[in-house]
Amino acid sequence: MALEKEAKRMAAEFEYSKDDLNRGVQHFMTEMREGLGKTGGHISQIPTYVTAVPNGTEKGTFLAVDLGGTNFRVCSITLHGNHTFSLTQSKVAVPRTLMETQVAAELFSFLAKQIENFLKTHHNDHFETHKAKPGQVAYFDLGFTFSFPVEQVGINKGALVRWTKGFSIQEAIGKDVCELLQKEIDALNLPVKVSALVNDTVGTLMARSYTSPGKESTLIGAIFGTGTNGAYVERLSNIKKMKDIDEKQGGANYDTTTGLMVINTEWGSFDNALKVLPDTPYDRALDKESNNPGIQMFEKRVSGMFLGEILRRAMLALHNSDNSNASFLKDKTSADNDLTTTTVIEPDSALFKQWGIDTSFLSIVEEDQSDHLRITKQVLEKDLGIQAAATEDAIAIKMLVHAVGKRAARLAAVALGAVILETKRLETDGFVDIGVDGSLVEYYPGFEDYIREAFRETQGIGEEGEKKIRIGLAKDGSGLGAALIALTAHDAEKP
Ligand code: BGC
Repeated sequence: MALEKEAKRMAAEFEYSKDDLNRGVQHFMTEMREGLGKTGGHISQIPTYVTAVPNGTEKGTFLAVDLGGTNFRVCSITLHGNHTFSLTQSKVAVPRTLMETQVAAELFSFLAKQIENFLKTHHNDHFETHKAKPGQVAYFDLGFTFSFPVEQVGINKGALVRWTKGFSIQEAIGKDVCELLQKEIDALNLPVKVSALVNDTVGTLMARSYTSPGKESTLIGAIFGTGTNGAYVERLSNIKKMKDIDEKQGGANYDTTTGLMVINTEWGSFDNALKVLPDTPYDRALDKESNNPGIQMFEKRVSGMFLGEILRRAMLALHNSDNSNASFLKDKTSADNDLTTTTVIEPDSALFKQWGIDTSFLSIVEEDQSDHLRITKQVLEKDLGIQAAATEDAIAIKMLVHAVGKRAARLAAVALGAVILETKRLETDGFVDIGVDGSLVEYYPGFEDYIREAFRETQGIGEEGEKKIRIGLAKDGSGLGAALIALTAHDAEKP
């Protein structure tokens, strides 16, 4: 009982109340406006130079690559013009050493090499003809999904602001990532032009617009995966900083006729000052020991890369607690069946290692309805090297998991809710459509339900508003979306 009480107390530290939620939404809206006014706010509000969303009739074949986390994907996409598409892809893990290399070219030449392999396998005729007779075949337009904050100055131009999600290549900061990739593509003499730079959230927004049936266009593309971020459609007239940006470039280098532009919010850095975000001792320790302390504070409470680590720190605190009655993952006699369990934690258990717990662990535990939480015990043994955990331990872990996961979903609702309210789309449109992607929304049980519950508690949305919000998975957003933007870029270049 003492353990259950202690776990409950810790779980309560993660509660994010209705008041917290509403304060969060208000502050998020303030930071959105600040970001539209000037460069350098917490929420960056980066103009993407994408000024229209697709309607499903687009056609053509394009290449797309996607760098944003553990894997690098290369694909070719054929848009059929009837809301459907076909996609061929290959995927490789990005070697850890390249994520932290001193020399940016090492990473980008690895990426170009993967594009070359892909062309040889899937478009060999094109590849060979180009090698034999350069200039004879058309170049492929390539959409580069690069899922890190980039201050864009054009559809295929932009300087890297900072790395996130464990990448750290100092040399690349401030550089144009399209240029870095094009240079390596040219070095291999490939018939490929990097024609669009795309954040994964923008790709998700485009992909959802292309595939989603119905007249309402999609408002938001959001990722809740390794990292988190969102892009949305904003009125050009609200993007006050655009005037300065245009002046610096000698005029607007994009289509102004739609009166709209997609904004990449980079909401991972919402409230870095921690004015409204919850802050437990586990959040604080995680941040302090991360490779980017003080930034991406919202992301560190919401996304997959961090939830396992928050949980690990909470579990470790419980294990090391001075409260000897609340013995956790230690030998004990179970109240359940009066049996004594001898729990063994292997010395090299992931419980003792930074980033040791993967989010998939949380998903499995949250989902576990088995007798005596048998599945949780199995995964404790398999993933964390913890043998013969008692049922009480598993119950305590489940409580903590639930608390960490639910808080993440409610914070996700802060971001989505704020964008919905700030754009006033509930007032003007019949429905609000959101495309989402990422392991957390896809696999974490109940993630969307908790978001919806929070929407109902949000002033300005409420029960009625929540019913008008559609959330749909936009799989392959980064591939399809990048192709759609490459298409727009290609069309814009035509005389
Ligand atoms: C990056 C964003 C990206 C998000 C989701 C964040 O860490 O800053 O650019 O969209 O992860 O992949």
